[in-house]
Amino acid sequence: MCGKSVYMFLLLLVLKQDFAISIRITELTVPSHAVEGGSVLLQCHYDLEGEMLYSTNWYKDGREFFRYVPSNTVPFHYFPNDGVDVDEKDSSSNVVKLVNLTPESAGLYRCEVSGEGPYFMTVFDEKNVSIHLLPYRRPQVTGLEDNYKIGDILAVNCTSSRSRPQTYLKWLINNEAAPKWYTTGPWYRISRERPDAKETIMQLRFIVQSEHFKEGVLQVKCQSSIAPLYQDEVVHHIVHAEDNIIDPISEDILNEEIKRLMQNRETNANYGMDETDLPVPESQNDQGQGSVFKLSISSMVMVLLIQIIFLNPYLGNYITNI
Ligand SMILES: *[C@@H]1O[C@H](CO)[C@@H](O)[C@H](O)[C@H]1NC(C)=O
Ligand SMILES: *[C@@H]1O[C@H](CO)[C@@H](O)[C@H](O)[C@H]1NC(C)=O
Repeated sequence: MCGKSVYMFLLLLVLKQDFAISIRITELTVPSHAVEGGSVLLQCHYDLEGEMLYSTNWYKDGREFFRYVPSNTVPFHYFPNDGVDVDEKDSSSNVVKLVNLTPESAGLYRCEVSGEGPYFMTVFDEKNVSIHLLPYRRPQVTGLEDNYKIGDILAVNCTSSRSRPQTYLKWLINNEAAPKWYTTGPWYRISRERPDAKETIMQLRFIVQSEHFKEGVLQVKCQSSIAPLYQDEVVHHIVHAEDNIIDPISEDILNEEIKRLMQNRETNANYGMDETDLPVPESQNDQGQGSVFKLSISSMVMVLLIQIIFLNPYLGNYITNI
């Protein structure tokens, strides 16, 4: 029993020593993502641990495309392979440069390192590469007006040109992510010229309110990305329409006008009606609020029209021409 254990122990020691002097791959540098049409460097670093190198070999999906055998008179060999276009002048014993990447370039890349005889010990490591097709232009925003008034509906689309995988789109308002209920989509459209790629569309739609304007400007931004290779954005600044077109009338003046008109209406009503019939919207029910709202809107429109037509001859002409 005891003798057997000692024997096992010695055997393990010998095996361990054998492993200690064996070749190993210290680092395989193969990017997990690359861009179609681009190039990529594959690097295989190894430690021979005192052994002599017999060969390094590269395989894609099990098919050899590169062989380096230093003892041969022609040490480098390249084998044609779909999607594997080796740039020979930039390749060496442990670096291979692939150029003109195509969708076929995607796959499992393996580096294999072998020591000299008599053992020809061989080790390998492998990594997957996926090939992305990036958009050929920046995202496009469509449907945007130059300016918006409070209460207008802003409805715009952001469209990314075809990509594989699809582009991730995100809308921001004044540099903050737009609320979920402001956005619709994304929709995907298969590209006509590239059936393996898709366009992405995302809509932003909301009713413009005064709090959307920061110092009179509303900023909308569409960000597009394909992690980890691609990121872009387009920014649009929207001007508060009332600040532009109806510049002479400030909001305070407008409110004063509305108050005045409402007072006039009340005094007129008092003349024509019995005191007891006068409905005073004390209780804040919907009907009362609704009528006040309607009144203020019609008053606003009246005031605006009067002011525009009489105070601003240019705009007056413009309005009557419409
Ligand atoms: C490479 O990808 C294939 C298919 O997705 C998967 O089965 C395999 O485990 C991956 N290999 C490595 C080393 O990541
Ligand atoms: C936005 O895109 C959707 C889906 O393609 C389309 O139905 C809609 O008309 C587009 N709107 C604008 C403003 O472009």
